[in-house]
Amino acid sequence: MKILAFAGSTSSTSINRELVKFVLKDFQEEEINLIDLNDFDMPVFSVDLEKKGFPEEAHHFLKAIEECDVIICSLAEHNRSYSAAFKNVFDWASRINVKVFQDKPMFLMSTSLGGYGGGNVMNTAKTFFPNFGADIKETFSLPKFYENFDLESGVINPEMLKELNSKVENFKNTIRK
Ligand SMILES: Cc1cc2nc3c(=O)[nH]c(=O)nc-3n(C[C@H](O)[C@H](O)[C@H](O)COP(=O)(O)O)c2cc1C
Repeated sequence: MKILAFAGSTSSTSINRELVKFVLKDFQEEEINLIDLNDFDMPVFSVDLEKKGFPEEAHHFLKAIEECDVIICSLAEHNRSYSAAFKNVFDWASRINVKVFQDKPMFLMSTSLGGYGGGNVMNTAKTFFPNFGADIKETFSLPKFYENFDLESGVINPEMLKELNSKVENFKNTIRK
């Protein structure tokens, strides 16, 4: 099985990328393509630029999704919404194929420094990603990242770890059926 993984962030110290990498440890036997949104740097979307053509990175993003079997991602929350970096990739890609996520099963996560764990961006994505072809199978939000996650050992809050492990197991069972 091919897994496409990404964090909705371009930060070199992205906590969402850390969460994605932690979950990927449960999928070591699979083929993993962990992409970095920094490799999909494009001008800020505009309908005027679009008339001149699409950046090749937008095609590359869609191709990476096309080539995978499942998606594991974690979204950064900026001002209660997507990071500008993710939204830009999403906007460009959606103009080529509105079904950006191409009906792939998705494990959707978010984490933030705050107590809501990126719950706002999670609610938006959970509500609207299906309109863009996401088949969301499980969701997980980790609040107060630095209180509940250790960069060496991963999620350290026992209840949250239990919840995450159970969701990972459910996701595995769903996608292997
Ligand atoms: C411009 C900006 C806006 C932010 N807005 C929110 C927010 O609305 N909610 C939240 O929980 N954290 C917010 N944060 C803090 C992020 O949770 C924090 O920067 C986190 O590290 C982002 O994830 P990342 O490390 O994967 O990029 C914001 C950070 C920035 C830079």
